[in-house]
Amino acid sequence: MKIVLLGPPGAGKGTQADLISEKYRIPKISTGDLLRAAAGAGTPLGKKAKEYMNKGLLVPDDVLIGLIKEKLAEKSMKKGFILDGFPRTLAQAEALQKLIKDFVVIQIDLPDEEIIKRLSGRRMCKCGSSYHIESIPPAKDGICDKCGCTLYQRDDDKEEVIRKRLDVYRKETEPLVEFYRKRGLLKVVDGSKGKDKIFGEIRGIVGSL
Ligand code: AP5
Repeated sequence: MKIVLLGPPGAGKGTQADLISEKYRIPKISTGDLLRAAAGAGTPLGKKAKEYMNKGLLVPDDVLIGLIKEKLAEKSMKKGFILDGFPRTLAQAEALQKLIKDFVVIQIDLPDEEIIKRLSGRRMCKCGSSYHIESIPPAKDGICDKCGCTLYQRDDDKEEVIRKRLDVYRKETEPLVEFYRKRGLLKVVDGSKGKDKIFGEIRGIVGSL
């Protein structure tokens, strides 16, 4: 099972990727997480990526395509995977066409104002868990339910950077909706519903494959 999640920043791709990964026992590949891990480790790639990410810009295609090629070649990807955050440009989508066959693209969409609310209220944990201060709060304020660590806010979740990420999404990534629709690969879910309802729709899509 190979699933590509497409959608604007904050639409809920990461949240749904975690649910799919748990239910179907396939790994999630989040390019954002990979780049943040590289930035945290201070590697040359990470330092370069951080400059783009903190401005709300896309990291260059050659870097991302190389990263994905490496990940997809790993043994653990044989049973299938979820791509969260890749592709994001036409060049990336064309590269992916050459790398994998038989996949479905699930677009999660959400209006801009809802995105701003979701991202400005998002809190992260270093274990990878994600919360929202209003809609998906942790049991104890500011503390991760899974590992007990203190939650933090992502550097690119400030309102001016969120708006830039949205502009970049509409210009660079939204054309992929048509790219995949034309190829008969696109399924759409409404990201404004609750996370369990959305996951129910995704299970329906996966079940019909
Ligand atoms: P990345 O980390 O991929 O960020 P993004 O695509 O902007 O997506 P987000 O992680 O912000 O949101 P999400 O859709 O996963 O939403 P989430 O589930 O967390 O990329 C970051 C940066 O890396 C990019 O800007 C770029 O610089 C670089 N990059 C990455 N990939 C790249 C590529 N391929 N090419 C070039 N550059 C690349 O949910 C958001 C919030 O809402 C959370 O608080 C969550 O708890 C809450 N929530 C989720 N679902 C619901 C729901 N149904 N109802 C209410 N609240 C909900």
